[in-house]
Amino acid sequence: MSLQRDIAYFFRPRGIAIVGASKTPGKIGHEIVRNISLSGYPGGIYPVNPNSDSILGFKCYKSVGDIPSLVDLAVIVVPANLVENIVRDCVNKDIPAAIIITSGFSEIGNKDLEERILSIARSRLRIIGPNTFGIYCAKSKMNATFGPNNVLEGKTAFITQSGALGLALMDWTTEEKYGVSSIVSIGNKSDVDDADLVEFFSMEPSTKSILIYMEGLKDGRKFIEASEKAIRKKPIVVIKAGSSKRGAQAASSHTGSIAGQDTVFNAAFKQVGIMRAEGMTQAFDWMQAINENPVPLGEDLVIVTNGGGIGVLATDKCEALGLKIMDIPDDLSKELRVIIPSFGSVKNPIDLTANADDALYGKVLRILVKNRQVDGVLALFCQTANIDPILVAQVITDLREKEKLRKPITCAFIGGHLSQIAYSRMLEKKFAAYPTAERAVDGMYALISRYRQLRHPAGS
Ligand code: COA
Repeated sequence: MSLQRDIAYFFRPRGIAIVGASKTPGKIGHEIVRNISLSGYPGGIYPVNPNSDSILGFKCYKSVGDIPSLVDLAVIVVPANLVENIVRDCVNKDIPAAIIITSGFSEIGNKDLEERILSIARSRLRIIGPNTFGIYCAKSKMNATFGPNNVLEGKTAFITQSGALGLALMDWTTEEKYGVSSIVSIGNKSDVDDADLVEFFSMEPSTKSILIYMEGLKDGRKFIEASEKAIRKKPIVVIKAGSSKRGAQAASSHTGSIAGQDTVFNAAFKQVGIMRAEGMTQAFDWMQAINENPVPLGEDLVIVTNGGGIGVLATDKCEALGLKIMDIPDDLSKELRVIIPSFGSVKNPIDLTANADDALYGKVLRILVKNRQVDGVLALFCQTANIDPILVAQVITDLREKEKLRKPITCAFIGGHLSQIAYSRMLEKKFAAYPTAERAVDGMYALISRYRQLRHPAGS
């Protein structure tokens, strides 16, 4: 079987058996059935429990073998000592994919049991886990996890080796309006690993970027080879935990994986173009910029601001990150001079001064976005009493939505309540917006990095 088809059963199953489904609210086997049902999953839902006739309104079966319909995915939630038999039942019913939620395997030294399960599954049943919280897939309306049910749909596939962190992030991404196309809790990676998922998501149409929280790898070479190919199609960001000595020790005792030498990871990531983020906020800031913008056509950037100080800070950060703040050419400078007050600056950073209103932002940004010499714009706004941030947000979103002008833009709305509303509205409309100038620069850094990756692919 091809990897694409094998892995697709996890994300686009036509029927799901939940083995160890329970009537009792609060039990993991109950919450998973509830989540699958609440998320609007349109396929067959088949709880399996020898002691129940029906769970949450779905007919319950004594074993997977009794289910009369097609099952592509089994979610296994029985205690560890029962998993072996259940996996055998799944193989006998020709189920091609299983998520084993159950803990108590190699992560606590119980490697034999994990090996036995793999040998039963052999090449007939692919396994995610054990020791996972499950999978969420927006396109399939499938939340086969015991996490929250209100996950926001987005463009990033998120693969996590940490269960608790992944569960917490399901809520956090929604709260922060980031959105994800899929979430996979990868658990002990006994069978399906990061490399398989990277390859799958690189071809999966609803995913625009791939984010991995990683503590360690079992097969580094396989991962790097898969990433090298995938990166030609989609950017990959990795949050690699365990950069410190103590952190590496903690990672190793958490999932049993070898954290490896951090410098080796850094060198390998750099070689193929994987971007390594320091943490969640930076990773999602990068994703936001990449997901919601076209790839820049060059590296010439312009900063537009209504506050001199914030323009200088942003310039410093750009320089520290190796981003090019272009010299404004004469013709562009003349065009801008006509509309920018004499006490403002048409040099880069362009300072519209505190007098600027939304109309001036609109006019200047329109000129920059239309100008072929400008490859990307950082639109920075400091809240003042004389201008409504929400109107500034509106003129920026209008450029794309009404005038169909598309150029990489990252925005910052710095200030209080109204600025937060403005930036939040921009996120809802799928623009890369941030509450600080530094984060807007970081977003632009991700876009320029993507431009460089595509221009100079690894191995070229
Ligand atoms: N087929 C189907 N269901 C069966 C069964 C079988 N052969 N044998 C027992 N069951 C049922 C049980 O009767 C029970 O249902 P009930 O509530 O109606 O009685 C259900 O399966 C679950 O079994 P139970 O013994 O109650 O286990 P549990 O729900 O307390 O715990 C796990 C099961 C899998 C949740 C637990 O072993 C575990 O691993 N927890 C940790 C999970 C975790 O943290 N994963 C990693 C997250 S990142």
